[in-house]
Amino acid sequence: MSGRELVVLGIETSCDETAAAVVRGGREVLSSVVSSQVDLHARFGGVVPEIASRAHVELITPVIAEAMLSAGVEAKDIDLVAATMGPGLVGALLVGVSSAKALAMVWDVPFVGVNHLEAHMHAAFLDEPDFELPAVVLLVSGGHTMLVHWQEDGSYSLLGETQDDAAGEAFDKVSRYLGLGYPGGPVIDKLAGEGDASIVKFPRPMLNDGNVFSFSGLKTSVVNYVRKNPEVATEDVAAAFQEAVVDLLVTKARRAAVEVGAKALCLAGGVAANSWLRERLLSVCVEEGLQAYLPSREMCTDNAAMVAAAGWHRYLIDGPSGLDVGAEPNLRLVVT
Ligand code: KG4
Ligand code: ZN
Repeated sequence: MSGRELVVLGIETSCDETAAAVVRGGREVLSSVVSSQVDLHARFGGVVPEIASRAHVELITPVIAEAMLSAGVEAKDIDLVAATMGPGLVGALLVGVSSAKALAMVWDVPFVGVNHLEAHMHAAFLDEPDFELPAVVLLVSGGHTMLVHWQEDGSYSLLGETQDDAAGEAFDKVSRYLGLGYPGGPVIDKLAGEGDASIVKFPRPMLNDGNVFSFSGLKTSVVNYVRKNPEVATEDVAAAFQEAVVDLLVTKARRAAVEVGAKALCLAGGVAANSWLRERLLSVCVEEGLQAYLPSREMCTDNAAMVAAAGWHRYLIDGPSGLDVGAEPNLRLVVT
């Protein structure tokens, strides 16, 4: 069989989603199962690492079984097992990595450890079969906010990242402050749609400082504003906050794409599910004559199909990972 057609079982357990997927040839999703632990963590206002690890242990076997069943594949059909090895919560990552290595050993197939950030970037291939490089990727998740230049040969360089909070973290913290619960992104997204963003213009920190982001000052501005103006409707505050975040993200992504001469702008990571961000990015791409790659919302937030796609790609470039590979909670994006 050509390497291009390999059937990959992907496993994702870096945070609070237990996910497994079967993907053929790095692009064709045969199944993608995501079991969210959101309800378990919601009452604590954020992810509790110990609870996440325990839930992954309970869920990993049924989630893998369901992914294989709904893909219509059996053990003998799997050519490669890929799992997220970092960055993420160490106890959570260990569940996925250990399960993947055990299955690879029993089935006598290779194992590949996958960088979660690289996995988010590969979501573009799943929904856009014609996805072509070079592109600038705006990778915005709960733990990361960065601009990546993804070159034609598949190598990439980091153009810049956040100096403090990630964009998703800002959504989650503002949501918690406004009493809207966890995770904050989807709630603010929905509420902002009913609000008036023009009631206040929140600051855009570091707007003109190249590809570097900062969100913690913006979050503080929202808190101070609400303290001084308790009568202002929550949906208006949500809309004005979202407007500031999206403005920062889109302005910088646009500038970076033009500067490096990219042909396309691509969104990745959980915050890429945001309706206003998607709409603004599309218009910017039309204005600049850039291709826009917006993976579906399901592929933007944590899932295992993106892990399988990235694992397939890594395997073709670097071959299998050793079975001594473990969880790497602080893994960085490997700049090639
Ligand atoms: O990529 P992801 O699923 O997990 C990490 O790798 O972090 O991203 C989760 C983050 C959370 O902070 C969540 O609030 C945010 O993505 N998020 C959103 C939306 N959906 C999820 N942020 C803004 N708007 C959304 N619709
Ligand atoms: Zn993620």
